[in-house]
Amino acid sequence: MTSISLDSAAPARLDVDALVIGVVPAEGGGVTPVAGAEAVDSDLGGRLATGLTALGATGKPGEITKLPTMGALPAGLIVAVGLGEPGPDTGPDTGSGGSFDHEALRRAAGAALRALAGTARVAVVLPASSAEDVEAVALGALLGNYSFGAYRTGEQPSLVERIVVAAPEGTDEAALKRAETLASAVTLTRDLVNTPPSDLSPEDFAEAAARVAGDSGLDIEVLDEKALVEGGYGGIAGVGQGSANPPRLVRLAYTHPEAAKTLALVGKGITFDSGGLSLKPAEAMDWMKSDMGGAGAVLGALAAIAALGPKVNVVGYLALAENMPSGTAQRPSDVIRIYGGTTVEVLNTDAEGRLVMADALVRAGEDAPDVIVDIATLTGAQLVALGTRTAGVMANDDALREHVVTSGGLAGEAFWGMPLPAELRKGLDSAVADIANISGERWGGMLTAGVFLQEFVPDGVRWAHLDIAGPAFNKGEPYGYTPKGGTGAATRALVRLAEDLASGSL
Ligand code: BES
Ligand code: MN
Ligand code: ZN
Repeated sequence: MTSISLDSAAPARLDVDALVIGVVPAEGGGVTPVAGAEAVDSDLGGRLATGLTALGATGKPGEITKLPTMGALPAGLIVAVGLGEPGPDTGPDTGSGGSFDHEALRRAAGAALRALAGTARVAVVLPASSAEDVEAVALGALLGNYSFGAYRTGEQPSLVERIVVAAPEGTDEAALKRAETLASAVTLTRDLVNTPPSDLSPEDFAEAAARVAGDSGLDIEVLDEKALVEGGYGGIAGVGQGSANPPRLVRLAYTHPEAAKTLALVGKGITFDSGGLSLKPAEAMDWMKSDMGGAGAVLGALAAIAALGPKVNVVGYLALAENMPSGTAQRPSDVIRIYGGTTVEVLNTDAEGRLVMADALVRAGEDAPDVIVDIATLTGAQLVALGTRTAGVMANDDALREHVVTSGGLAGEAFWGMPLPAELRKGLDSAVADIANISGERWGGMLTAGVFLQEFVPDGVRWAHLDIAGPAFNKGEPYGYTPKGGTGAATRALVRLAEDLASGSL
């Protein structure tokens, strides 16, 4: 277990193993240490910039340069992390009080902590002039200090045990608590995504949700395969019928006695997506344990919301099924009946996410929510359109879509607004049922999936859809505070949206 604390005393004197400082590119090459590192520099006789520059430091974002202190400071090692150029950047606004935006601070702290895995005690001295800055540094550090060791025999991957964050005198400890709450929510989501599907069946996931509900004081209702069939949830039941591991629909509820509004969160929870009878090729299948990332984000977010206690009601749905081929699997051309009665011709069993989501969206309408946000690793087309790190945001309301993009950005999530062109509905016409689950139209697959889901959104409810197919799982190298594997994408944004509805800004 990692402990984290704030310290406003002279950081250069902290008794730790490593001291993290920030550097920016210097004019004419090399680096300049940023505010907060002055005392460290003076203990080193003013030679910090020269020393780091001699080691080749350039100050680019996430760059790590290690410098031994040779006894000049209590800490044995200085770790300089590049912050890039200060000032507003050209990307989406990620919020800032000082000269670095919060995402730059989170990423720098995360990159430093990753580089220090195995070090016992680390102090992080980054430019933080407000409680929000301190929260960003603490959150980045905690998120960077992550490893998934559950399946390693022998020595466990080592984490930093004690983190000290330099903070201005009088910084409210609440900033630290909030960072810890958000970090443990993201950790929960990451752990669920990383867990092999052999150990995370829909039933296992529902049990994990029940444990979280018990610990957090959330209400929980679990529909098993029998209840799903009897209740008319033909999407979840249909997708799940080919697997030996039966499906579940989980409803979690956080209620506040003074709440005026209700937010519904709906997460795609395909614990493994083989494609079903419309089988995926091997290279597209080996990361499909991440196909429950939406449901993971909903569960993580609800745990954090319960801990933070905003004045709002939040219901979360986890639409859980395993998509497998077998003698009992649904066939391309089967017609299923979604909760509420709409019939769907299943022309491709690999477009299964929209089927389980349809059931859960209709059911969420029964909670009379003011806003529904659904989160799903829904389409490969999301990766084609936006790449691996940026989620697509679609909505039936322009102001809501803009709000989700902006608020998500402030939470540190890369979101981008996408349209729901009405003309795409025609491609989903079925020869036999109300709608088909794939389109005759080849282009814009992310949008088509959104248009499909829109059919199942309760009338008159503001709704946003997040396609996190790429962002949920990092197949590449770690960066900033993002590890390889499960990333916890959207978890923090969902918490923020609940707070926005509570405060009246949404
Ligand atoms: N789970 C996949 C989407 C996905 C792809 C998530 C890559 C993460 C990474 C989804 O169920 C799927 O298979 N979608 C199909 C839909 C198609 C058949 C219309 C796709 O995108 O290929
Ligand atoms: Mn699929
Ligand atoms: Zn899927």
